[in-house]
Amino acid sequence: MRRKLYLETFGCQMNVLDSQLVLSQLRAHGYELASDRDDADVILYNTCSVREHAEQKVWSRLGELRAVCRRRPGLVVGVIGCMAQREGTAFFRKYPHIDVLCGPAELDKLPALLHNAVVARLEHGRAARQVALMGANVRRSATLDAAGDALESLDLSRSVSPADDAAQAYVRITRGCNKFCSYCVVPYTRGPEVHRPPQHIIDEVKKLVDGGAREVTLLGQTVNHYAYSHPDGRSTSFAELLYMVHEAAPALPRLRFVTSFPRDFTDDALQAMRDCRRICRYLHIPAQSGSDRILKMMNRGYGAQQYLDLIDRARDMMSDISIASDLIVGFPSETEEDHQKSLDLIRRCRFKNSFIFKYSPRPGTTAVNRFADDVPDEIKRRRNNEALAVQQAVSAENNRAMVASEVEVIVEGVSKLATRLAGAGSVELGWDKSRPKDPQLVGRTRGDQIVCFDGPASLKGQIVQVKIVDAQAMTLFGVRNQESGIRSQESEYRNQDSGIRDRCPES
Ligand code: 5AD
Ligand code: SF4
Repeated sequence: MRRKLYLETFGCQMNVLDSQLVLSQLRAHGYELASDRDDADVILYNTCSVREHAEQKVWSRLGELRAVCRRRPGLVVGVIGCMAQREGTAFFRKYPHIDVLCGPAELDKLPALLHNAVVARLEHGRAARQVALMGANVRRSATLDAAGDALESLDLSRSVSPADDAAQAYVRITRGCNKFCSYCVVPYTRGPEVHRPPQHIIDEVKKLVDGGAREVTLLGQTVNHYAYSHPDGRSTSFAELLYMVHEAAPALPRLRFVTSFPRDFTDDALQAMRDCRRICRYLHIPAQSGSDRILKMMNRGYGAQQYLDLIDRARDMMSDISIASDLIVGFPSETEEDHQKSLDLIRRCRFKNSFIFKYSPRPGTTAVNRFADDVPDEIKRRRNNEALAVQQAVSAENNRAMVASEVEVIVEGVSKLATRLAGAGSVELGWDKSRPKDPQLVGRTRGDQIVCFDGPASLKGQIVQVKIVDAQAMTLFGVRNQESGIRSQESEYRNQDSGIRDRCPES
């Protein structure tokens, strides 16, 4: 009998991918996706622990389920991902209606855990607490052999269903993290860094391209730290992997990767980005702070000048490169002077955008054990707003410089934002009013800029040319270039190469 699964995902792209892999695996075990929680036999939350706020959302979901579980005693509830790993079996004390806990490094065990839980609930009318969590002192070899480990089977057995959104796909190249930034919970929840064999990655990319992928994003917590040691002593660097994947998938229009770690970014990786025209010239490379003192306390292993030098090197090699960052405000002991240095860094680096977070003390991290969370919340909030305002000004300037240029856009679907704004009648968005029947679509440029334009919903997943007619800080607005239409891949890239360089604000 097919069981209905409701799966909600919180957090980063790695969690999105984990959920896709879990779904693919559970489909093979007879599950089908329910779009509504109330129709489901099994409810899973794939959770994030990186900030307290992310955890609060899951606590409230679980609270809501208390009454639902009383009404439907057969319902199976599972918590998977980073919160399951961080909180462990204490979950059962807080929420006795939970059946399954599974950490992100143990997801290959999920079908067996769910099977036991479903049998216990439905056939024996009782809960059977099923747990798979990574051990405290887990040791893993940094590189997997060709056979891989149990978790690798999750990636390898991935099925590509035409029903899924196939155009944009994620492929992980590393798992876990060894950096131990003092504020971060990830090394504790996802475990030590593991590097996948290049051939596994290439096979997966090819499978996805055959299934319709037009953009593949290689994923890793510190993606550019990838280095695979082959059993015969050879090694494959991140730059070599980029060349290999690019060459092995000639029909793939866009290859990109996130998230990069500044200290590990070598020139050969920048050269690979410059040389391979289908690799998107986009870096998400979190700075976290512009203050050397704070960066040291964060255990980031680089100073502000080193970070700036890297950004300069990247821009020297590729004037059209688009760079995004993460910044934490209100880290313990952060002064106004430290904060100003972060603001200066945003101005100096001219980020496409920055994700700005208020420091959130996470249990078990070195920062929480060693430093008092001594920046009051109202100051964190003010610094957060100031950093956002500086970034907005930079983004608006960057975006304005793109007006009148033509960009290549991968269409993600109908734009909720544009529909809402247009519906409110409050904003003149400048799109093509001569074709009122088309909805507003949203897509992304090769540099990850968001573009809204009119077009048929059937363009979802396609790559089109759009002329930019208006710009706001977060969004570009354009008109689809019907003349060029959907071009052949060859001309798409040539146009992109010349187009972006001409209009880059730096050049
Ligand atoms: N508090 C605030 N932000 C955090 N991040 C990670 N840990 C914390 C924390 N404890 C941010 C970092 C990271 C992003 C994914 O989340 O900026 O790059
Ligand atoms: Fe966390 Fe630092 Fe690893 Fe990123 S590099 S996942 S911030 S420990």
